[in-house]
Amino acid sequence: MIDELDRLKLLNETGVAVIGCGAVAKLYLVPALLRVPGAEIRALIDTDLRQAEQVQNMFRLSSAKTLKSIDDILRDEQVTHLVVATPPKSHAELCIKALESGKKVYCEKPLALSAAEGRLILDAMKRSAGQLSIGFNYRFAAQFKKVKDLIDKGFAGKILSLSVFFLTNASPWPTETGFQFTKEGGGALFETGPHPIDIALWLLGQVKSVSCILQEKMDSNALVEDSALVFLRHSSGSTSVIHVSWHSANYFGMTVVGSNGVMQAERGLDKIRALEFGVVGRNWVLLPVQSPANTSSYQHSLHDFVKGTCRGATPEEAVRNLELVEAAFDSARSDGRWINL
Ligand SMILES: NC(=O)c1ccc[n+]([C@@H]2O[C@H](COP(=O)([O-])OP(=O)(O)OC[C@H]3O[C@@H](n4cnc5c(N)ncnc54)[C@H](O)[C@@H]3O)[C@@H](O)[C@H]2O)c1
Repeated sequence: MIDELDRLKLLNETGVAVIGCGAVAKLYLVPALLRVPGAEIRALIDTDLRQAEQVQNMFRLSSAKTLKSIDDILRDEQVTHLVVATPPKSHAELCIKALESGKKVYCEKPLALSAAEGRLILDAMKRSAGQLSIGFNYRFAAQFKKVKDLIDKGFAGKILSLSVFFLTNASPWPTETGFQFTKEGGGALFETGPHPIDIALWLLGQVKSVSCILQEKMDSNALVEDSALVFLRHSSGSTSVIHVSWHSANYFGMTVVGSNGVMQAERGLDKIRALEFGVVGRNWVLLPVQSPANTSSYQHSLHDFVKGTCRGATPEEAVRNLELVEAAFDSARSDGRWINL
């Protein structure tokens, strides 16, 4: 018997299940979800039940069920929202099942293993008239939102180029399955590249051609690429240069060069640097960002999902992202040849 207080809580709070209780769930998604007002984690699902139990203990989620399969939650009406944080090879199956059961879905990037699989998820979303949000959380980082806002307001004039660096040291990432280092969803370009590619799509729009160079594997035991340079020609005439690497200090930053100015933003800083020709002379100025830069982009992104405001990347953009990654691999196989889309 549930008492009146519990009944009201069930009605007023959004019931969320997290499927895949590995590294990103433990480090970012669960802590972020706990800060989303009105969201309640009601189930933790992992094929390796110990992972679900570990998350339950770490975050004292004693009232959340721990389960082994998505099938155990599909008919549970108290769970309306599902966060998919499993390796990419299971995203399509899990997202399609969840959408067809009427759940709202937040899927970690990359959306799927291939653009073809991504399109199947998109079809399921359309058939079910469901909600699908993607884990492109950096669109919600205050610094990058400020850059977007300034570009839209014409601060830098016509944008000539965008350089995005997404550099990490992948070795210490506490992956549970190690999928990042296998052909099934791993590799710096496939696994990490979607973030900066999404930033480029968001800031500069449609892409008409792609060129890519995969750099030498620095770890000779790796089965996958560990660094990549990707060049995107946008329909607007702008160019993006993206550098992803797993052999570096952690750094995620960007420089935008426009006909009237330059902007630089970095993850974690609460200001961006800007140089506006002719207005502030040639001095760099520091511009504050609008919302607290220290609130995690995961929290903003999951808040957007739970509230249904859907201000992040669209499912169509997530499929486009997979098409761009596939084109980048095609280009790398032919020594950086430009591939038209
Ligand atoms: N947005 C970001 O910044 C960010 C950061 C890191 C990882 N990710 C993405 O998050 C996803 C997970 O990455 P990770 O590093 O946490 O991986 P991980 O290997 O650490 O964890 C994955 C977990 O999923 C479980 N699992 C696998 N298949 C399952 C299934 N069918 N049903 C239920 N559980 C299943 C595994 O047992 C494991 O515990 C990947 O898509 C990755 O690219 C995103």
